[in-house]
Amino acid sequence: MNLSNPGNKSYFCGQMNITILAIESSCDDTSAAVIRDGNVLSNCIATQEIHQQYGGVVPELASRAHQVNIIPIVDTALKEAGINKKELNAVAFTRGPGLMGSLIVGVSFAKALAMGLDIPLIEVHHMQAHVLAHFAELPHPTFPFLCLTVSGGHTQIIRVNAPLEMEILGQTIDDAAGEAFDKTGKILGLDYPAGPIIDRYAQQGKVVFDFPEPQIPELNFSFSGLKTSILYFLRDQLKANPSFIKENMADICASVQDRIVSILMNKLTTAAELTGISEIAIAGGVSANSGLRSALIQQGEALGWKTYIPKFEYCTDNAAMIGITAYYKYLEGEFSSQDISPKARWGM
Ligand code: KG4
Ligand code: ZN
Repeated sequence: MNLSNPGNKSYFCGQMNITILAIESSCDDTSAAVIRDGNVLSNCIATQEIHQQYGGVVPELASRAHQVNIIPIVDTALKEAGINKKELNAVAFTRGPGLMGSLIVGVSFAKALAMGLDIPLIEVHHMQAHVLAHFAELPHPTFPFLCLTVSGGHTQIIRVNAPLEMEILGQTIDDAAGEAFDKTGKILGLDYPAGPIIDRYAQQGKVVFDFPEPQIPELNFSFSGLKTSILYFLRDQLKANPSFIKENMADICASVQDRIVSILMNKLTTAAELTGISEIAIAGGVSANSGLRSALIQQGEALGWKTYIPKFEYCTDNAAMIGITAYYKYLEGEFSSQDISPKARWGM
């Protein structure tokens, strides 16, 4: 069976045991997952620790590490799922957006495997997959719902009308929320990725420093001004007290996190008011943040929203979300051709 024609539309509803191997390699995590009939059988992730010492992802090192990790991680995912590769019905991969060298490794591997097994290929949009990570478990949102998608490269409010029908209502005009965490961490001398480290410090600190909230029209976001104000604030404080950061790390982190969370929550609240939608989800790496998770729950209770927060393993990059998205595409008969290439930049 080779269904790999672009635009080929055929429907497979009713077909059972649809088993998909999914590959995610858009940034610095190599991940493989096996999904059967929309259920996650395995979700394995090889995280690249080499980038920590450089304060950010080094693209060349990331693609080399993907090259090393991809075969072992696929073997592990198949083994954990108890699936032989001959049982696979399709191979899914992240086509973009992401780092070109990293994407190439996943795309090339997926193409070769699909060709070798003579099964279809399914391309997946990374940000669409972050949203559909909510369908990896129950309960999941009902349509239409709003999803605040916050990662290292994106900050978007998305109206989700159906699994494959999404509309961007607002997005960042400069840095992403994850970048705001990571760049602040760099200023504070923390390792990359700094988001989880700031989160941990914040839980021990108090919100005592006030950073301005940017006034950005409509449902769009901006985080570059915040980064600059943190930089100037610390520069001034360090002049008076060279140990200021060390002595106040927890309170600085709590204050920065509180401001990033309030920027996100204010826009999300406006989006809910404007659309009248009260099914509200968060997704992407920053949705692992404890401050954002509790702010969403609180606001949901105050405004009568039904809120959805993914399990930690489905917040940051993972192949399960790629496989879930691919399952919906499989049902719609949306397959990719063998001459497909990655897209480092790819609008939704
Ligand atoms: O979705 P993701 O794993 O990769 C991208 O697609 O970018 O998101 C990674 C981002 C990084 O910026 C990282 O610092 C941030 O998610 N992050 C967090 C937390 N965990 C991960 N930011 C704040 N708090 C966290 N607990
Ligand atoms: Zn991501």
